[in-house]
Amino acid sequence: MPRERGTMADRRLRSQDWFDNPDHADMTALYLERFMNYGITPEELRSGKPIIGIAQSGSDINPCNRHHLELARRVRDGIRDAGGIAIEFPSHPLFENCKRPTAALDRNLAYLGLVELMYGYPLDGVVLTTGCDKTTPSSLMAAATVNIPAIVYSGGPMLDGWHEGELVGSGTVIWRSRRKLAAGEINRDEFLEAALDSAPSAGHCNTMGTASTMNAMAEALGMSLTGCAAIPAPYRERGQMGYRTGRRAVELVLENIRPLDILTRAAFLNAVKVNSAIGGSTNAQPHLAAIAKHAGVALNEDDWQESGYDIPLLANVQPAGEFLGERFHRAGGVPAIMWELMQAGKLNGDCPTVTGKTMAENIAGRQSNDRDVIKPYDQPMRERAGFRVMRGNLFDFAIMKMSVVSEEFRARYLQEPGHEGVFEGRAVIFDGSEDYHTRINDPALDIDERSILVMRGAGPLGWPGSAEVVNMQPPDHLIRKGITSLPTIGDGRQSGTADSPSILNAAPESAAGGGLAWLRNGDTIRIDFNEGRCDMLVDADEIERRKQDGVPKVPEDGTPWQRIYRQTVTQLSDGATIRGAEEFRDIASRPPRH
Ligand code: FES
Ligand code: MG
Repeated sequence: MPRERGTMADRRLRSQDWFDNPDHADMTALYLERFMNYGITPEELRSGKPIIGIAQSGSDINPCNRHHLELARRVRDGIRDAGGIAIEFPSHPLFENCKRPTAALDRNLAYLGLVELMYGYPLDGVVLTTGCDKTTPSSLMAAATVNIPAIVYSGGPMLDGWHEGELVGSGTVIWRSRRKLAAGEINRDEFLEAALDSAPSAGHCNTMGTASTMNAMAEALGMSLTGCAAIPAPYRERGQMGYRTGRRAVELVLENIRPLDILTRAAFLNAVKVNSAIGGSTNAQPHLAAIAKHAGVALNEDDWQESGYDIPLLANVQPAGEFLGERFHRAGGVPAIMWELMQAGKLNGDCPTVTGKTMAENIAGRQSNDRDVIKPYDQPMRERAGFRVMRGNLFDFAIMKMSVVSEEFRARYLQEPGHEGVFEGRAVIFDGSEDYHTRINDPALDIDERSILVMRGAGPLGWPGSAEVVNMQPPDHLIRKGITSLPTIGDGRQSGTADSPSILNAAPESAAGGGLAWLRNGDTIRIDFNEGRCDMLVDADEIERRKQDGVPKVPEDGTPWQRIYRQTVTQLSDGATIRGAEEFRDIASRPPRH
């Protein structure tokens, strides 16, 4: 639907329905008076200047985004210099590392809160401050639902962490150090020191975990200014980007460019490809599915395989590679990755973006000058680095991130002569992470190289919220023998910072009666990468009989929101969204009643 662009001359702003409404003098007075408290005049609010919300995701409870409290000043400066009025408001905090039972539970809650704020208050446009994992998808989901002009401003990654002369990256250091701890190479204090050294400054995780990935996705979708995602939090450019983002937010209102103009299917397919090339987080799958669903875009389960699987790994960044956020930024960041994809004919360059230009125009001339960090398309780190979509009688959908599958793992499990790409192993099942931690070193489980570790009860319903617990490490005795990873399967997720070869996000989950619920310890599981299948080798009759036992138990609801969440949430394959919320789209086109 072509929409009026250009000047404001003959178009009323949304906020004028509140502040300059001749039919509601009484309401206008009520709406106006309290804003005077911080220096805005009635004349200004009624002048037709765009009112730009700054959705503040930073707070003491979310350290990854906390510096947005300062950066927001730069955004305000940009808004004011461009002729707008800034109104900052808090969004529901989402801190990945500390929220129990998992921050994933709160993504939909933050989404709901943002929708109500952006819809119910006199905002003409919004700057969405993002950083930590779920802050980006919740913001983009809300932007799609409300559809007022919106732009993403991320807080950027922390500086590179160093420990004993080695780069140590967020999260990745935890997974690597816990293997060293299990092998007896380090003690607990050394573990803690390495972890602390991985976090040398303000900012979000400095690896290509979910935070860096989702902010790269926002940029790849065209929802943030070019080059925004990778600028480290403390860099001068980060503040300048805030100023430019504020200015641009005002222009977006004047030009009437809205999220649904940008969030097209072509933009999502670009994002899927960028995710492969950066070695991005498996959490991009449910989050992009959720954003697409709210935007009314058909992003299908198979798109990950069809568009993403064949794309090579270009970014040499942990966990799939060596480097961290600072080097990635200096090497050119997301625009340099997209430039490579563009040259290779893999990107749709016509996609409109918040800059007002096409993606091709945004990334023109952005070739990387650091080939240690961003590889040329035809000399990648690894071929076919996207997500392999898996199906079978254990689940209808799951994914495996191929960019982190090591050569050693491939050699051990996928290159057996005569059975290339096929592996059969014995299921060792854990119902929740407590069960895993209690029993993983129990000799009675008899775990060896032919075992497959299975985690269930970790999906949206089971956990609740879906937890990053599928990246289970082998028992200590195997690690001491040099076997640092076993095949794992689960209905939960894994941290974007993990380098585990896991089959993840299985849907439907065990708690919803998916196939994992009917698996028993000792069953043989067959994983066929060639066919993209994963099955338990159990008779259909026997599976039917096991269904009499019911699904494995999961914890009861712990809070009111947990209950509402469980009553409404869809599966990870579908984005774990609120069922029916996608029926609300472009809601700002109808002003709320007084
Ligand atoms: Fe917040 Fe990683 S824990 S970005
Ligand atoms: Mg995470």
